[in-house]
Amino acid sequence: MARSYIITIASEKGGVGKTTLATNLAIYLKGLAEDLPVTLFSFDNHFTVDQMFRLKKMVNPRHVGQLFTESNTADLLIDGQYGVNFIQSSHTLFESQHQVQNVEQLAQIIARSSLQGLVIIDTSPILDIYTRNALFAADRIIVPIKDAPSLENCRNLANFLVQHQRSKTVLKLLPCLIDTRIHFEGPFRNSYQLLKAYAINRGFRCYEGFIAKSPKVESLSTNPSGKIYPIITHGRNTEVHLQMTHLARQVYLDYLEHGPGRLNEVANNLFDQEEEFLQEYKSRVKNLQSTCLCCEAPVPEDGIWDNAYFLENETGCFSGFIEEDCFFDLLLLDFYPELSGKEQQKLLQEILVGTANQPFLLLQKTQINSELAQVDLFRLDQQGEKISGRSILLKKRRRFQRQGKISLLHLFNQAAGGQAQGFQQLLVQQTNNNPLKLLQHHHYMEWQTIFNRIQVDHRLESESN
Ligand SMILES: Nc1ncnc2c1ncn2[C@@H]1O[C@H](COP(=O)(O)OP(=O)(O)O)[C@@H](O)[C@H]1O
Ligand SMILES: [Mg+2]
Repeated sequence: MARSYIITIASEKGGVGKTTLATNLAIYLKGLAEDLPVTLFSFDNHFTVDQMFRLKKMVNPRHVGQLFTESNTADLLIDGQYGVNFIQSSHTLFESQHQVQNVEQLAQIIARSSLQGLVIIDTSPILDIYTRNALFAADRIIVPIKDAPSLENCRNLANFLVQHQRSKTVLKLLPCLIDTRIHFEGPFRNSYQLLKAYAINRGFRCYEGFIAKSPKVESLSTNPSGKIYPIITHGRNTEVHLQMTHLARQVYLDYLEHGPGRLNEVANNLFDQEEEFLQEYKSRVKNLQSTCLCCEAPVPEDGIWDNAYFLENETGCFSGFIEEDCFFDLLLLDFYPELSGKEQQKLLQEILVGTANQPFLLLQKTQINSELAQVDLFRLDQQGEKISGRSILLKKRRRFQRQGKISLLHLFNQAAGGQAQGFQQLLVQQTNNNPLKLLQHHHYMEWQTIFNRIQVDHRLESESN
């Protein structure tokens, strides 16, 4: 699959010319390679991109924040002016930051999408989660620098790359907003030469040339039409036009030379990871007991068992499902033998309703002597904290309690593989109508986190007793 090449414009300094560069570069690149799709969007909270590329007033509510929630990235694209596709900006990005869980998300989303050609991402001066996603995904990061402080800030970008096992050479610096009227004595005759020397001295790569400060360019964003005009159409007789042309050619050659390596890399990792998760899932499914843990009715082949309970022991080597009826019999007969049928019904309801909101039950056995064991039943909240419990003493009994259903102690015995164990825990969760879902990576990780927490809590409790 042909993937896109991502160019991120970033700098932790505001007002260095990022947005001007991103928007105009899109147009110059489109001019160089007409057949190549060019897509542009901004994680900054102003609407320059929209004002420059919008062909008509949009009533379309889709915006850049939805990259992280919408399943189809291509649906967000709008055909813009000058042949550039863009995604509308948003001023609610700050509020929806929590939707973005990690820095890899954008790269994975674009890698899975049908987006092709060049993608240019304008960022805000803050290294927030959006900027970090744009940096992580980038084949090339262009950093406009206009003065010594903006150059110092590049260190954070370089550190980010190093943290994510990437080379600092992904960054390429571009002196911007250079006032060519200012001259210095000595070897570096203007601020462009000085900045470039500083940058190289600090081990950064630079583009050839710079972007000059031009009153004409500055005026392009303020005019009665409310539009923002591009340099290529309204600033053609400025030196910035030539400088942008030169820059675009370098960026394009870079692309031709390296191609969309970054997203391919991300996609390969993603594929490896998904394959790994799938194998783990399959081995969990294989490890399941093939019958109801209590009555030995076979588990349906498709794994679809309405209202079953999933159960696993503390080592994870014993796991399977119990039919709902069996599970309640198991609890009622041992824990609540004194209750009448009606009372049992009420209790079941309580446990059922309770577990719908607080989804975990913990069964815990402590062997007191060869004849006697204490068994605790806890209801747990979603974080694995105990909210209520009941303890009973059980004597060694016959294997079956009623109608071929095994007893609680025998369930523990089976979980231990027939080996008598002093202390055992079984975690139980109701599974609704898709029991196997619980074994999928994401859900199973949550399950394990809860179980680990319970075990740590137990260890701490036993130490303090
Ligand atoms: N080459 C240039 N010459 C003159 N003014 C420029 C130039 N590039 C950008 N500007 C102006 O500088 C200001 C900051 O530019 P902008 O692209 O918004 O920077 P950033 O996105 O880094 O905050 C804007 O008013 C813009 O019009
Ligand atoms: Mg900006």
